[in-house]
Amino acid sequence: MSEGAEGAGTDSVIRDPGLAPGGLLKIEWVKSHMPVLAAITAELLGFCAGPGSASGRQPLAGLRVAACLHLEAKTANLLLSLRDLGADVVACGSNPLSTQDDVVAALIGEPGIRVYAWHGATPDEYHRFVGMAAATGPDIVIDDGADLITTLHADYPDLAARVRGGAEETTTGVIRLTAMAGDGALRFPVLAVNDTPMKRIFDNKYGTGQSCWDGIMRCTNLSVAGKTVVVAGYGFCGRGVAMRAVGLGARVIVVEVDPVAANEALMDGHAVMPMSAAAEAGDVFVTTTGCCDAVRGEHLARIRDGALLANAGHFNVEINLAHLAALCKGPPRRVRANVDEYRTRAGRRLYLLGEGRLVNLAAADGHPTEVMDLSFALQALAVLHIATGQLDGLGGRVVRMPAALDRKVAELRLASLGVELERLTPAQQDYLRAWQV
Ligand code: ADE
Repeated sequence: MSEGAEGAGTDSVIRDPGLAPGGLLKIEWVKSHMPVLAAITAELLGFCAGPGSASGRQPLAGLRVAACLHLEAKTANLLLSLRDLGADVVACGSNPLSTQDDVVAALIGEPGIRVYAWHGATPDEYHRFVGMAAATGPDIVIDDGADLITTLHADYPDLAARVRGGAEETTTGVIRLTAMAGDGALRFPVLAVNDTPMKRIFDNKYGTGQSCWDGIMRCTNLSVAGKTVVVAGYGFCGRGVAMRAVGLGARVIVVEVDPVAANEALMDGHAVMPMSAAAEAGDVFVTTTGCCDAVRGEHLARIRDGALLANAGHFNVEINLAHLAALCKGPPRRVRANVDEYRTRAGRRLYLLGEGRLVNLAAADGHPTEVMDLSFALQALAVLHIATGQLDGLGGRVVRMPAALDRKVAELRLASLGVELERLTPAQQDYLRAWQV
């Protein structure tokens, strides 16, 4: 293992506990912009300890929650809320570049929280940290990409067998877990938090739409206006990335394999073509496919000198990095933080951002705080749902989030903004129930 430090008074493994003051300030900032998570935490604590409560205790008391998440300040706020709700919290990173060392330093100063993570972990370190979180024997897991759940199954099958349930944060994780369930390999039920509207619409579309450009602009200090942006994949993330690119003054080309999504891209005003054609036209490439090889050798061979290559999908497989390296004479040159210059044998320069990892978390702070407030409010409700036995007996399945939980988060968000809903009158309710001619 490379440099690092044991956490203060815990068995945490982080880089430098001395960074805690900076991390505490970051957490303080996001906490004041995450009212929905705060309202849910307060309600759950009030419910359990309030008058007439049978238990009078924290709803997660006695439960260990292990989380494999992007360890930045908003995530820290979720982990603190789970701890306040009584959980024993263990966390590891879900991407080697998204862990913020000052944030995890602040976290391990808190009772009831252990962390195994540091920024820039090597692949071995990353997997070792995920394994350390798995080895603690969680009752409930929260995953972002399914690395913790797959590690539990592969390396700690006895511990996997005693997990009550999980909650998955991202599309890639849901796809992996659905494949696991299809193969009969999943040992416990997992809530697909990703798939619920209050997550997908706001986090995937508006969250990625803003944070991806935040990352690209921060690390390059270049203009988006006037450029041709190629967006690979027109799911919720791709739609957000394309929409914000237009807002920043770019022309957008969408590359898509699904005919319905391709039609939507056309109707949204974007050009649609295969990557083989888009490769020659683009100045900036952003991958959001959730699949490998969206940009591969045959495309890299055509991309123009000076182009930027960024990935906004969960894993660093969307731009084929082996193909990129094979085009070049020598190793890449780091020309700015999070910008690596690859010089091809033909003399073209291609700039890979954030090492091809999630650019919004490698080169910026992830999604806007208000957006993660919604996602993490859903995660807190998902954990409560599991803790109160709602998934018990379901076995190894990927389970939809109950619509009532989605609606609760939507209502709390509106309440936090002071926005009121229109209400149906009794006559309108009758009208909607009537079917007779
Ligand atoms: N911050 C914490 N988790 C995140 C995620 N999955 N995407 C973007 N920003 C985040």
